[in-house]
Amino acid sequence: MSLLEPAWTSKTFSSFPLIETMNAGESLPVGQHDLEIQGNRLAWQRKPRLRAVYREFHELIASRLDRSITGKIVELGSGMGAIKEVIPDCITTDLFPNPWLERRENAYRLSFVDASVSNLILFDVWHHLRYPGTALAEFRRVLAPAGHVIIFDPAMSWTARFAYGVFHHEPLGMRLPLTWDAPEGFEPGDADYFAAQGAATRIFWRREEPGRFGGWELIEARPLPSFEYLATGGFSGPQLGGPFAFKLWKKLDRMLIGWPNLFAARLLVVLKKTL
Ligand SMILES: C[S@@+](CC[C@H](N)C(=O)[O-])C[C@H]1O[C@@H](n2cnc3c(N)ncnc32)[C@H](O)[C@@H]1O
Repeated sequence: MSLLEPAWTSKTFSSFPLIETMNAGESLPVGQHDLEIQGNRLAWQRKPRLRAVYREFHELIASRLDRSITGKIVELGSGMGAIKEVIPDCITTDLFPNPWLERRENAYRLSFVDASVSNLILFDVWHHLRYPGTALAEFRRVLAPAGHVIIFDPAMSWTARFAYGVFHHEPLGMRLPLTWDAPEGFEPGDADYFAAQGAATRIFWRREEPGRFGGWELIEARPLPSFEYLATGGFSGPQLGGPFAFKLWKKLDRMLIGWPNLFAARLLVVLKKTL
C-alpha cells in the first residue's frame, strides 16, 4: 500500500482517540501506539512539509549506516514505514503487524538470529523504551561485530522543552528516575505505552548513566536545531508559515547549530558494538 493512499478519512481522524496529555511515568495500553500510527498516516498524507523534513531526517540516518558490515539493516518501531523511501533495503518492523510493514518485532525480544543485523535504526522509538538497558542487551545479541545502533529522538534544549512540553501530549520525563533494566519476570509482551521525550537527551547527551555502556562505543551524540521540523507542527499541530517561512526556518537552523543547549530539537546518536 502506498503511503499516500487515503486509507483514512477526515471523519475517522476527527473521532480518533488521541490522548490530550500524559503524566511522567504513566502507563497506557500498548494499543495507543497503533492508534497514533493510524492517525499519523492521515497527517502524513495532508502535510507535504512534514514529509520533506522527514525525508531529510531519513537521509541523515542513511548517512550514518555502516555498509561495510555484513548483515541486515533493520528499523524498529517503523510506524508508517516511510524510511523505506530513502533506505529501500531497510527491513521495516513494528509492534503492530500493519500491512505496509515487513515484520512484527518487539525491541525487547527480536526474532533475528544472533549477529545477523548490521545496523539497527530507532526513529522516535528510544523515548518509548521504559527499560533501555534490556533493549540494548537484545540489540547486542542480534548485531554483528561492530554493528551500529542509530537513534534519532527529541533533543531537549530550552526551546525544545517549551515546544515539546506545551504542544506534544507525551511527558518530557526529565526528572523521572531512569529504570535501566526490566524487573525479574518481565515478558516483552507486557510492554506498555510509556513515553519520556527527554530520555535520549539524558542518556546520550547529558550522559546521566555513564557507567552503562560497557561493550558499546558512543560514536556520535549530535544535538541539532530543527525549527524547520517544529514549524511543520509534527503530526498533530498546525504548520507555521508557507514556502518563504520554511526557507527562513532552514537558514535559522544552520545559524543556530552552535547553541545546542538553547536551540537543539533533535538528537542523532550512533552506538557501535565493540565486544
Ligand atoms: C513515535 S512512533 C515513531 C514511528 C516512526 N519511527 C516515525 O518516526 O514516524 C513510535 C513507534 O515505536 C513503536 N514501539 C514502541 N515500543 C516498541 C517496542 N518495544 N518495540 C518495537 N517498537 C516499539 C510504536 O509502535 C510506534 O510505532
